[in-house]
Amino acid sequence: MIIDTHIHLNDRKYQDILEEVIKEALENDVERMIVVGYDRSSSIKAVKMASSSDFIYAAVGLHPSDVIKEEDFDLNWLKNLLREPKVIAIGEIGLDYYWNKNNRDLQITYFKKQLEIARNANLPIIIHSRDAAMDTYEILKEHSLPGVLHCFPYSLEMAREFIKLGFYLGIGGVLTFKNSRVLKEVVKEIDIKHLLSETDGPYLTPEPYRGKINRPAYLKYIIDEISEIKKIDSETVLTVLYQNARNLFRI
Ligand code: NI
Repeated sequence: MIIDTHIHLNDRKYQDILEEVIKEALENDVERMIVVGYDRSSSIKAVKMASSSDFIYAAVGLHPSDVIKEEDFDLNWLKNLLREPKVIAIGEIGLDYYWNKNNRDLQITYFKKQLEIARNANLPIIIHSRDAAMDTYEILKEHSLPGVLHCFPYSLEMAREFIKLGFYLGIGGVLTFKNSRVLKEVVKEIDIKHLLSETDGPYLTPEPYRGKINRPAYLKYIIDEISEIKKIDSETVLTVLYQNARNLFRI
């Protein structure tokens, strides 16, 4: 059994193929999916999807690329969504200095705000971080919450530091790309008990489907790649990653 710990079934790209994608996921052993929000409307949509499906859970949050358009400085919409029973994490939240160089202070403000919300709600966090390793690390070090660095984009050295803080590393389609030398090294060296499987669909589709819309059914290619890199049989990889996801998200 596999848990897709990060997918945006709330994205428009899935609109017309949603039923087929979920059915195909179940046929391919993906028994639970965490639909992740990135702003108000995508978070509300994630919650709606979760409440109408046994297989779907929701994460709610404001992504660093979306802070610029946020109108509710207190994030009351986010706090209100936490009453919903199938909300199991705050995310995705974090810092992105790759796409957004000019609003770092605002990103940090909303990031810290949401870490406080997660602490008060006693929920794990799903972190998006790009070109912002040190700021992310320093802020997370101050807050000490359970969570995952989704689509882990940094060095082995940073992986070790985040793991010391108790974080999991989200591993997705990038692992199957030819040029993913650094991530392959991370997966090779880091104990499997710190890894989670994710698609980040509709993005980051693994080989051999790179370029198409990503689907949870493709998680098997990531499991196989982890198995090959770590020289651990894929059944063991499946079992450990499944348990890791259940431990973190309490599902
Ligand atoms: Ni995402």
